Amino acid sequence: MAEYIVELEKVNKFFGENHVIKDLYLNIEQGEFLTLLGPSGCGKTTILRMIAGFEEASNGMIKVEKERVEDKEPFERNVNTVFQSYALFPHMTVFDNIAYGLTVAKVPKDEIKERVKEMLELVQLMGFEGRKPDMMSGGQKQRVAIARALVNRPKVLLLDEPLGALDLQLRKQMQIELKRLQQKLNITFVYVTHDQEEAMTMSDRIAVLQSGVIEQLDTPDEIYKHPASKFVANFIGESNLFDGTVESVSGDIVSARLDDGGEMRLKAEGFVPGDKITACVRPEVTGYTKEPVEGFNIKATVKNVIFIGSQYKMYAFLDNGQEVKINRTKQDKEVREGDTIWLCWEDEDAYGIREK
Ligand SMILES: Nc1ncnc2c1ncn2[C@@H]1O[C@H](COP(=O)(O)OP(=O)(O)O)[C@@H](O)[C@H]1O
Ligand SMILES: [Mg+2]
Repeated sequence: MAEYIVELEKVNKFFGENHVIKDLYLNIEQGEFLTLLGPSGCGKTTILRMIAGFEEASNGMIKVEKERVEDKEPFERNVNTVFQSYALFPHMTVFDNIAYGLTVAKVPKDEIKERVKEMLELVQLMGFEGRKPDMMSGGQKQRVAIARALVNRPKVLLLDEPLGALDLQLRKQMQIELKRLQQKLNITFVYVTHDQEEAMTMSDRIAVLQSGVIEQLDTPDEIYKHPASKFVANFIGESNLFDGTVESVSGDIVSARLDDGGEMRLKAEGFVPGDKITACVRPEVTGYTKEPVEGFNIKATVKNVIFIGSQYKMYAFLDNGQEVKINRTKQDKEVREGDTIWLCWEDEDAYGIREK
């Protein structure tokens, strides 16, 4: 049985008339790296702030370490928050910034020294203790903010887009560092981002949010391979979505007619003739031939091919105007702009989405 360290049960949040979080259930396991992922405005920060105690839930139950925390002040909850803006004290040195929580808690001076030193080593900032924040780079400042949060030894660290202000290269480096840190300390991380690649890189599980509702909560692998909705399929990685109606089912192979004509086949469970189905096919496994093959009849016209270094991206269009993406590591010299191709795929390379 998983041990839950944070539990949200039927949590709602209204800002005036605006129903921002809707009947949210979320159980976070001890020691896991859980990411709240979704577009801007979907409610990620609000969820984090309710766990931290900076925002009150309109109703519902929030537990940290099995205890209800709705009436507890932020400092009474065994959680700490790291913000995108760092929120360091500019007039204090790195040492004093990191030591702040311990100083307020009147921890003995010797112990403070010891624990700050430990943190400086952890975030690789030895020798920086005398600096002021404005003498440091963005990445270094964020490391100080993380050290300041971790020095209190919280059970849960809440991070709200902590790498958002950093440039791409530093961001990628910090993603790996943060993940290592989390594994080493075995602290639960609840991480907020709108960047799906960042979420995929770091998380044990991802909660994909849309308009205050969790659309899917699962491992990165599962979410990529088996997106629960069209929204998830589009938000996580690239995908080609083909809408149709199931015509026949043979074992676990479904044959369907596309809404705009044409036929397709895929492996899917639980569908019966007449059901609406959307085939989600990733660009790297979207195939094509010069003539239709059995079970498929989807005509497309090649628009262009772009080389982006790691791969060739081919863009084609269906007769209804829908764009189709096809990614390959090698260029197919046989295919040119304006050519007609016929789309197809291996049955198991498509995933059948059932819209709710
Ligand atoms: N203090 C607030 N007062 C009123 N509305 C707010 C407040 N904070 C957030 N909202 C609204 O709640 C929704 C979710 O916001 P937020 O949780 O910040 O989203 P995200 O972090 O996913 O971008 C948005 O519509 C936002 O405008
Ligand atoms: Mg936010």
